[in-house]
Amino acid sequence: MKIIVAGTGYVGIVHAAVCSEYGHEVYAYDIDTAKIKAFSSGKPDRIERYVNEPGLANIIRETLNKSLFFSSDLKAIVEGTDAIFMCLPTPSDLDGSTNLTFYDAAIENIAETLEGRKDKRRIVLINKSTVPIGTARHMQDIMNAHGVENFGVASNPEFLAEGSAVVDARKPDRVVVGCDAEEDFKILRRVYSQFVNHVRIKYIETTPETAEAIKYVANTMLLTYISFWNGVGAKIGENMPNVKIDDLRLGVTADERISTWGSFVSNGAGGSCFGKDISSLIYQLRRTNVSTKMLEASFEVNEYQKVYLVDRAITEAGFKFNNKIVAVLGLAFKKHTNDMRDASSIKVIETLLGKGVAAIHAYDPLANQTAKEVFDPSKNILFEKIRYFDSAKEALAGTHALFISSDCEEFRGFSRTIEDTVKPPYLVMDGRRMIPDYDELVAKKYTYLAVGSMVMTPDEGETVAKKVKLKSVAV
Ligand code: UDX
Repeated sequence: MKIIVAGTGYVGIVHAAVCSEYGHEVYAYDIDTAKIKAFSSGKPDRIERYVNEPGLANIIRETLNKSLFFSSDLKAIVEGTDAIFMCLPTPSDLDGSTNLTFYDAAIENIAETLEGRKDKRRIVLINKSTVPIGTARHMQDIMNAHGVENFGVASNPEFLAEGSAVVDARKPDRVVVGCDAEEDFKILRRVYSQFVNHVRIKYIETTPETAEAIKYVANTMLLTYISFWNGVGAKIGENMPNVKIDDLRLGVTADERISTWGSFVSNGAGGSCFGKDISSLIYQLRRTNVSTKMLEASFEVNEYQKVYLVDRAITEAGFKFNNKIVAVLGLAFKKHTNDMRDASSIKVIETLLGKGVAAIHAYDPLANQTAKEVFDPSKNILFEKIRYFDSAKEALAGTHALFISSDCEEFRGFSRTIEDTVKPPYLVMDGRRMIPDYDELVAKKYTYLAVGSMVMTPDEGETVAKKVKLKSVAV
């Protein structure tokens, strides 16, 4: 099959590379010529400057100019194409709605190109990036308005997680394909022939609208599950004496129906998808006049969770942030990425700056450079208070408190580094429960405050204040 992947962002480039491994002739197309040059160089350092996914650069190097080609000239590659995958950016507007400006511009451009094609074979236009329910139909209207002949529209959402995108694309849980016509299903079955009738992978065929909805429901379900643990499990651990959140998680998730993924309480889930998709689904459903309370609750719990530890540090540990120096470790939205989209660290750092800290010592093994762009002092003068360090240990030195905001492996078992670098009185705020031997720290007079547990102070262990408060609700 001859395939064009329009848009070489994180979704597009991974999809193009993996399709090229399966013997298709794949053209990755993008209007960004610098990006196209970097990918077509085949050089890992140039590729990874744009998308840093394990295994991606290897596939590109192996398939480059054999089954994978790069181009910024759509007209030059369109003849003889069977399928065009749309992998275009769909950012959020302030009201939560999906901004289709880039998408529409690209679709118009594709429609104009298809209008003039000589080879009139059946061509399917497939939305791969997450787009509002009904967007395939909208794309169909644009093609019809341009008089494009013999085409079909489809929805085939991606379910890739960052850091494991290549593995996820090679071995998905499911492939969801939404089409109107049998001839379009047939084309998609040929594109995904390795997954059709697979013993483990579910190959699901449905309408374009259902496929679009599957993506939204999947992502909002995942966020709701995380919010459930943060909004219920973590709150029990933080307020009911002697409840151990890690044991609570083990006991509950021993039930095969309840997933382990998502049960790790945290200072909120970030990333490019969850917040954007839930806001968009709320917006889409509100337009049909139905209640969106459930989704709003998931979203709000997640947003508040991002800064909740800072509030708890004040109310439960009595910490005063004014003029203090705070280390923030883990700036990306999760480990193994430099992506800071919707990262909890952004809210944490903004909140700490709002509380009058003297300085922030920031460190992430991969995201320091991204952070410098996010916290650009020309946007907010307070960002000048952020200093960046090349190691966690260096970032800790000279600080009065620490906030762990992502789950980088190197923060696990970090207690020895803390002991060697900063002396009590010192507050550790652990947004990811990365320090299992926290009792050692508390024994050495550090204060430890983690999501999911009561504050541990050197004198009192779990706070007396909490226990007193609980007496009033005890039966
Ligand atoms: C997610 C979905 O997993 C993927 O299917 C979809 O296609 C895109 O969005 P991704 O954004 O890469 O993928 O991140 P994911 O690994 O799902 O984590 C999202 C956030 O949730 C991270 O901040 C992570 O640290 C957090 N998380 C995850 C928790 O707080 N607790 C958990 O138990 C799991």
